[in-house]
Amino acid sequence: YGDFNQKIDYVFKVVLIGDSAVGKSQLLARFARNEFSVDSKATIGVEFQTKTLAIDHKTVKAQIWDTAGQERYRAVTSAYYRGAVGAMLVYDMTKRQSFDHMARWLEELRGHADKNIVIMLIGNKCDLGSLRAVPTEDAQEFAQRENLFFMETSALESTNVETAFFTVLTEIY
Ligand code: GTP
Ligand code: MG
Repeated sequence: YGDFNQKIDYVFKVVLIGDSAVGKSQLLARFARNEFSVDSKATIGVEFQTKTLAIDHKTVKAQIWDTAGQERYRAVTSAYYRGAVGAMLVYDMTKRQSFDHMARWLEELRGHADKNIVIMLIGNKCDLGSLRAVPTEDAQEFAQRENLFFMETSALESTNVETAFFTVLTEIY
């Protein structure tokens, strides 16, 4: 069972980036395994998970890479971005600073990744609406200016997580 005998048409590498604690690892856990952990530990180095899905009658294996938001735990930058065809730029909508840092993350991404990379800006933790510190319009404006896709998600409540990954993978395809 599973994808043991499945023919893979494409393998797409997608990278997750953004400040520590914005929810990168939990977005990945939700997408790849439909899991969520409230006491998620900070990522050290690099981890990745794969998920195989059908897009337009083709079998696409998404290889999603996740690294530490904390500088001291980060992996070798160039290796992380190498071969990536998609990127999720994640901030925490309850933490203004994590959104203000998006420009810097984008600069690093654009400095290392292929120029045709598909980029999705993600405002995570939309389940915490009452603590919102980043208006949707601010993020929309940034995304429009920088030519990024944009979505607000909740890894906790599963809101828009599949849609966000699926959109990026479809755009790559
Ligand atoms: P680093 O690995 O240090 O870069 O952090 P990270 O971006 O991977 O964050 P992680 O996924 O570990 O999540 C950090 C904290 O936020 C954990 O306590 C999660 O449970 C919580 N969290 C993640 N996503 C959500 C969400 O959608 N809603 C809420 N309320 N909490 C979330
Ligand atoms: Mg992490």
